[in-house]
Amino acid sequence: MQHVLPRFSSLICFCLLTLTLLNCSIQPEPKLQSPDENISVAFSLSEAGVPEYQIAYKDKSVILPSRMGFEIQDQIPLKDGFRIAEMNYRMEDETWAMPWGEQDSVRNQYNEMQIVLEETKAPNRKINVVFRAFNDGIGFRYEFPEQPNMKDILITDENTQFNLTGDHKVWWQPGDWDIYEHLYSATNFSEIDAISKQNDPNLKASYIPENAVNTPVTMKTAEGIYLSFHEADLTDYAGMTLKVDASNNSMMSELVGSERLGGKAAISAPFNTPWRTIQIADRAGDLIESKMVLNLNEPNAIGDVSYFTPMKYVGIWWEMHLGKSTWDMEGSQSMNTFTNTGEIRTNHGATTENAMRYIDFAAANGIKGLLVEGWNTGWDKWINTDDREGVFDFMTPYADYDFEKVMAYAREKGVEVIMHHETSAAPLTYEKQMDVAYKFMKDNGMNSVKTGYVGKIIPKGEYHHGQWMVRHYHKVLEEAAKMKIAINAHEPIKATGKRRTYPNAIAREGLRGQEFNAWAADGGNPANHLPTIAFTRMLSGPIDFTPGIFNIKFDEYKPDNQVSTTLAHQLALYVVIYSPIQMLADLPEHYTENGKPHPALQFIRDVGVDWSVSNVLEGEVGEYVTIARKERGSGNWFVGGITDEEGRTETISLDFLEPGKTYEAILYEDGTDAHWDTNPRAYAIRSMDVTSTDTVEVVLAPGGGFALSLKGK
Ligand code: NOJ
Ligand code: CA
Repeated sequence: MQHVLPRFSSLICFCLLTLTLLNCSIQPEPKLQSPDENISVAFSLSEAGVPEYQIAYKDKSVILPSRMGFEIQDQIPLKDGFRIAEMNYRMEDETWAMPWGEQDSVRNQYNEMQIVLEETKAPNRKINVVFRAFNDGIGFRYEFPEQPNMKDILITDENTQFNLTGDHKVWWQPGDWDIYEHLYSATNFSEIDAISKQNDPNLKASYIPENAVNTPVTMKTAEGIYLSFHEADLTDYAGMTLKVDASNNSMMSELVGSERLGGKAAISAPFNTPWRTIQIADRAGDLIESKMVLNLNEPNAIGDVSYFTPMKYVGIWWEMHLGKSTWDMEGSQSMNTFTNTGEIRTNHGATTENAMRYIDFAAANGIKGLLVEGWNTGWDKWINTDDREGVFDFMTPYADYDFEKVMAYAREKGVEVIMHHETSAAPLTYEKQMDVAYKFMKDNGMNSVKTGYVGKIIPKGEYHHGQWMVRHYHKVLEEAAKMKIAINAHEPIKATGKRRTYPNAIAREGLRGQEFNAWAADGGNPANHLPTIAFTRMLSGPIDFTPGIFNIKFDEYKPDNQVSTTLAHQLALYVVIYSPIQMLADLPEHYTENGKPHPALQFIRDVGVDWSVSNVLEGEVGEYVTIARKERGSGNWFVGGITDEEGRTETISLDFLEPGKTYEAILYEDGTDAHWDTNPRAYAIRSMDVTSTDTVEVVLAPGGGFALSLKGK
């Protein structure tokens, strides 16, 4: 960390600051620029002493003057009557190593400006605003310093405004306090209507109180500039949605509430809020390559995480979503209604024999992990009841699941079993048992757990994305870290880059995953879903999407549901979606063709999960995206490209390869006449030798994709 004198405009500010300190009637106009000087942020106080900021990119305004302030229980609002008491500048330029990730290391370079504000009248409260200008965007947060008139406070509203410069095109999902499992809509800003998304028949725990959007929310201006709004380092505060003022091109922070708390966030000064982040880019792909949200988090606080190995895994999972088998052993209706089959049947998926079958498949294909859902008792009792405390104990296997035998067989075959903890959204039950449950895992050689929070949060009045649950999710990370356990959370709080500080936060769901294709009443995820996710949800962090469905139509199980992509699109997702864990989501028997291993399975066997370089070659939000990644260790490259309902032809330049080296290329592409609906399984495989001077032309079918592996010779 370096403390240096500010440069350029900041110097002028410093002179003004000196004046200010001598004569309080003159207020400085603090400015900050990104290291490359393309992005600038200006802070000012209105005549009434209201704090305002504005942002420009390449000399064009991208955020118009926007207010900042807070409403606090039993206090007058903290929003005006301020003077600038102090300004401090700082620069940072460091590089940190990713223990696992999209790249080996990350450069964290920014200029920082801290503005110390003080009310000119009693109670003379103080608040600081800190801006960081990066080459790829702006982050800012509020600091509540220790002070006599503001110690323990309840924030009833944070009023951070984001005034846009026009009626931008927006890829948005509703500002739901409980769930991020919505489809994205692409509309102009003025047409955002989140309330119309209430009562989604697939989302029982959904709560959308305002016309607001969840973050990350991505936009494109008429000039072709991409913006994405999110937050970083959400640790002890309520999640932020953005309330939409559709007629004024304006958004306002709308924190997730708590009826139990009677407000949004209870804080104790000194306290820093999460960072409010605005990514700014000329190229849609630069949004994906940006590491700004991660950089706004603190460095690794838990040390070595080598107990977690990035891996591909299989799971006793999709078969329950298809309705082939059940989570519970009792044949009750409860969890099985989740799959809309409506029938009562006893066909437990997590049996000893079935687990051994999956282990055999994993071992035969070099797949490291196995997830077993429905292994523990309790699955007959939850989902349809409000009384879900104490349903699961995370320790007791079903009678037909010989836990020890499965673990021993997995060990013998070199497969690592991933634990599953469905909490049924009863976090207090989970917190009570966490230490015992984690010890049980470690005693049995398990290093990672998929957690789940299906249903409305108990106690009533709390929401998945409110401060109380943010604290819970954080506690889980901390307790798990102490026990050397990695967490893959489903129904989670959104990712805000905390994996930098807690690299045991390996992946999460927090989106409309593959599961929806098995049972969603609306027909599942359309082909443009992942080309949208790549530029929205994926900007926040790794996704446990569970790709790799080969039996695309699965009519034998669900004639009315299907995956709406081609098989090659499913392959491409192993590269397009970033996650250090990637499931082979389909059933072992579906990875065959004519009684033999399916030829396209070879790509999934080969593809990496841990990368030293990631390049977004091209893409447009909601339409298509092509990503190339270099595997750590082997130096092999993998490229994945996906498209929406439109077919397209792409020419991939291989100039990212090491010059002069020959690579064996295997291209897995859509077959002639492939189509996400009429012919989704048609594929073709081409092999060739290539070098960095070559290009590869590939035709993507409607809803299609391609996957390319490039092994150095
Ligand atoms: C929802 C999760 O997203 C899914 O992956 C899991 O199988 C079920 N909950 C049961 O826990
Ligand atoms: Ca889910």
